[in-house]
Amino acid sequence: MTANGIAGTTKASSEAATPVGSETLTVVDNRTGERYELPITNGTIHASDLRQIKTGSADFGIMSYDPAFMNTASCTSRITYIDGDAGILEYRGYPIEQLAEKSTFLEVAYLLINGELPSREQFETWRYQITHHTMVHENIKGFMSGFHHDAHPMGMLMSTVAALSTFYPDAHNIFSAESRMLQTNRLIAKMPTLAAYAYRHALGLPFVYPDNDLSYTGNFLNMLFKMSEMKYQPDPVIEKALDVLFILHADHEQNCSTNAVRAIGSSQPDPYSAIAGGIAALYGPLHGGANEAVLNMLRAIGSKNNIPAFIKRVKEGENLLMGFGHRVYKNYDPRARIVKASADAVFDVMGRNPLIDIALELERIALEDDYFTRRRLYPNVDFYSGIIYEAMRLPAEMFTVLFAIARTTGWMAQWLELVQDSEQKIARPRQVYLGPTRRDYVPITRRRGKADRPEPMAGRRVSRRGGGIGTQEAARVTP
Ligand code: CMC
Repeated sequence: MTANGIAGTTKASSEAATPVGSETLTVVDNRTGERYELPITNGTIHASDLRQIKTGSADFGIMSYDPAFMNTASCTSRITYIDGDAGILEYRGYPIEQLAEKSTFLEVAYLLINGELPSREQFETWRYQITHHTMVHENIKGFMSGFHHDAHPMGMLMSTVAALSTFYPDAHNIFSAESRMLQTNRLIAKMPTLAAYAYRHALGLPFVYPDNDLSYTGNFLNMLFKMSEMKYQPDPVIEKALDVLFILHADHEQNCSTNAVRAIGSSQPDPYSAIAGGIAALYGPLHGGANEAVLNMLRAIGSKNNIPAFIKRVKEGENLLMGFGHRVYKNYDPRARIVKASADAVFDVMGRNPLIDIALELERIALEDDYFTRRRLYPNVDFYSGIIYEAMRLPAEMFTVLFAIARTTGWMAQWLELVQDSEQKIARPRQVYLGPTRRDYVPITRRRGKADRPEPMAGRRVSRRGGGIGTQEAARVTP
């Protein structure tokens, strides 16, 4: 690494071709005729290596421009692998199909956090720790009661998780391995409790305390649905179906909310604050909020007869087919396949959700339509999950909350990785400034409205405002 932070970039000394097979990329800057050789590591070039490519000493150097991170890796990770073209998802190398069939959510949570499946003894210790952190401080009940009766449970969850940081000031000690594990246990354990409190608050029902005899999902069902019975007994089919859904949602590498957790975590606050940010990102309808949006869409379609007209509107760009499409999967989302397959087991116990027929027909028609196949749009995890949650008697507003409970394990695994990654620094992207150049302040009495506004910038050649440490380059706009 050189003093300016550029790792291993060299200016190629001659015009001679670099031998084929070299793990480098040769770049010729046609502005100057200079050639540069950039190292390729793990199929990537380091964006900082581009900075050496400049027209002169006053030039900031080339940046890469990648809105929405379409082709930018922001970290190395050893947690989750996705092959979007092949429709493959693995946690720590284990295929999602095997984990969904053979494992449990709590075991998968251990795997994500610790990197390996637990021994029997390790699992018992883990189960005990999670179970014994499920209670929340009584004051939390107090302020959750203060929310309006129709407050969205994601808003309640987000703010309550942020508030947890005030209950655990020790969580600021993020460089203590012991503290990190304690906060991890607390967060994974308390999410179902907070989620259930949010649900009960909306119904005006008393909060139910955790039952340590039950499984992770069994206890969550208890906290949601227990009424006057002495002991709540979860239906094993529903308990298992929920457990599988939690496994499927546990992690998904650098998605929008995980990126938010990592970005917030990079400024080194406590993990509760970072996870609250993750919940905020998950809330949106393009991400975790899609499961709620799918249900609303299916209800609005109302009957199979209305599907062709709906698809026409989607193709005309009036609305999206919610639960379809994915930034990474250009094939059937493997999680959607498992969710779809588990629907019947839930319907056998709870009764069939008639929306499934609309969803199946919608999928059939879409997958035969050139609009969707050309764009490689397939059902994603959110397409069928809401139908199952609704069959479990959960309201649509709770769907994304369930996603958040499961994803907390992934967020924490990613946060733990971030905090211990010596390559990471505070996340701080660059920008390409296209605004006005320097101009003098005009007193309000002399402003004439529109006439004083600068011409639009389109079509002008724009160079970046400087940003090197200690430099102050002027923005230049050449007409
Ligand atoms: N319905 C109709 N057209 C779509 C859809 C859709 N659901 N998704 C993408 N497209 C079109 C899009 O209009 C674009 O068309 P064109 O090339 O003509 O402009 C093309 O497909 C590529 O889409 P994109 O918007 O560039 O893709 P993206 O990677 O930026 O967005 C996405 C991915 C998931 C945000 C998007 O597919 C979408 O909005 N889907 C619906 C919302 C949804 O189901 N979200 C859940 C995602 S999976 C679970 C999770 O992450 O939480």
